[in-house]
Amino acid sequence: MSTWGLVKTVFFTAVTVVFFFVIWIHNPFAPHEEYELPDEAEKIIGDPKAAIEGRELFKQNCASCHSLRYDGIYLMSVTAKPEWPSIEKAHGKPILEEKDGKLQVKGYFVPRDVYEAVAQTDLQNLKASFGKVPPDLSTMYLARGAGYLYNFIMDPQKVLPGTSMPKLFFPEYDKEAPQKVAKIVAYMRSVNEPPPGEKAKRTLMGIVTIAYFIGMGALLWVYRKRLLAKMGY
Ligand code: HEC
Repeated sequence: MSTWGLVKTVFFTAVTVVFFFVIWIHNPFAPHEEYELPDEAEKIIGDPKAAIEGRELFKQNCASCHSLRYDGIYLMSVTAKPEWPSIEKAHGKPILEEKDGKLQVKGYFVPRDVYEAVAQTDLQNLKASFGKVPPDLSTMYLARGAGYLYNFIMDPQKVLPGTSMPKLFFPEYDKEAPQKVAKIVAYMRSVNEPPPGEKAKRTLMGIVTIAYFIGMGALLWVYRKRLLAKMGY
């Protein structure tokens, strides 16, 4: 190989290695989690079973102010309207879940404009009480991360001074409070992240795809060499 060829090979190999190192192993551009998460909470947040309990806790504790439309959870005052079930079925897409090996409808994904039209006075009332409409929490896990959410829900004023979101959990009176909050965060995570099995499958797919390109590249290189040899180079 000529010196120039060697320089090019080394250069492109280095660029490729740095590229994959940054996206897979250490990404200095990714946002850093600044909030402390107790070990126990971290364990609960990673547990898919806790997420199922978290969904119920979310409905009990949060759905009076927040919707989570991606998972078919809407304001309590909206779902209590007699016309809601038929609107949900007419305009929504069923959200399926597997239970005991069977697919079941656990809710409906209703387009935002339809939902906001039905919920207009409810949202206005919340705005009148809290100064702003409590946001839909469908993608909040992606936006804020586990540490922020856990600390915020445990004590909103500490994380976001001046916020109108009330403190709902009091470890002084309820020993289960930290676990409950962790389960709610586990639930919000489960809405935004694929389940562990699915994640492993996607990683495998990624590795197989890259291996395929490397394999094909090597074959083409061998083929090119043979062709050149045949042509007398
Ligand atoms: C009584 C009404 C009420 C209840 C109940 C409530 N929230 Fe809120 N929440 C709010 C309001 C109002 C805001 C907007 C606060 C702001 O932006 O200052 C908010 C904001 C938030 C935010 C966004 C914070 C941010 O960084 O912008 C998250 C996350 C959140 N709530 C989670 C929850 C969860 C989880 C529950 C249930 C455990 C819950 N909330 C229960 C009223 C409520």
